[in-house]
Amino acid sequence: MIRVCLIGLGRTGKEIAKTILEQDDMKLVMAVCSKNSHNVNKDLGDLLNIKKTGISVSSCDELQQSILKFKPNVAIDFSQPEATILNVETLAKMKVRTVIGTTGFSEIHMKKLTAIAHNYKSGIVHAPNITVGVNVLMLLANLASSILEDYDCTIIESHFKDKKDSPSGTAKKIAREVLKGSSHKTNLNLENLNYDDIPILSIRAGGIIGKHKVLLAGQHDKIEIAHESFSRKVFALGALRAVRFIHDKAGFYEMDDVLCLEEVLNRYVNRENFLRKQKYYYPSSNDKVRTSVE
Ligand SMILES: NC(=O)c1ccc[n+]([C@@H]2O[C@H](COP(=O)([O-])OP(=O)(O)OC[C@H]3O[C@@H](n4cnc5c(N)ncnc54)[C@H](OP(=O)(O)O)[C@@H]3O)[C@@H](O)[C@H]2O)c1
Repeated sequence: MIRVCLIGLGRTGKEIAKTILEQDDMKLVMAVCSKNSHNVNKDLGDLLNIKKTGISVSSCDELQQSILKFKPNVAIDFSQPEATILNVETLAKMKVRTVIGTTGFSEIHMKKLTAIAHNYKSGIVHAPNITVGVNVLMLLANLASSILEDYDCTIIESHFKDKKDSPSGTAKKIAREVLKGSSHKTNLNLENLNYDDIPILSIRAGGIIGKHKVLLAGQHDKIEIAHESFSRKVFALGALRAVRFIHDKAGFYEMDDVLCLEEVLNRYVNRENFLRKQKYYYPSSNDKVRTSVE
């Protein structure tokens, strides 16, 4: 049973809490809010509009004491960048692995996070895009742009009216994947990629949870790859996948690792090679070639 601590009980944190409570292989043992929050000492069930859970919401000021008391194995943090940096250091010192969903880290923050994982030999998943479907879209965008070299790419993203950042972090990451895919250099330096080469159109309206579309247009055809979230449950499902991945590991990881993308691609290549051989060759030792129409 994986013992989970949830930090940040906002829109996403609440959805994650409800989803953890439905799992058989993990137990929510701690819920943490900011020190001045009106949620301190409330029963988590009251925040979620469900029956009492027996989990009393604690302040991030008491993180260390709460960890000693409730002994979580993994923490999920969906709060805000400055808070996450402080929390992650305390968690790492106390050997609690972390799934970080919070976005908006500076470069200095990012260096600090990787250093924390390294110095404390802790396990961290940094997942600014925790939705499994969005990660699939990013992989497809990378592969498509590496095949459709001369096509023009535009990214269109739509989110709810009050979303703080524009364009979304996900849209920028998709742009990076497209640039990575269209560059054939193996010694690629990510810092030299020019994101302005890929236009991003942002729509902020109503309660749209999140939609990203990659348009690759050539002279004679176009391809569109799109992902749309219908509910915040997708964030929760991605977070749980990351928890199951990290609970027994050390090191700094991303969702690519959680989803084993390298393994998926290797499997694709091996399977296609195997099937191709079956289709075009006699399975004899002299390997006589025949065509697929035979
Ligand atoms: N990775 C992804 O795919 C993904 C998906 C969705 C959202 N996000 C990111 O996750 C973060 C939260 O998103 P959200 O939409 O849930 O925002 P939100 O509704 O504003 O929730 C954030 C919550 O964090 C709490 N908080 C602030 N300081 C804290 C601290 N020191 N310790 C513990 N809790 C603290 C705040 O509540 P109190 O002050 O009451 O504690 C607030 O309710 C954002 O950075 C967002 O961009 C990422």
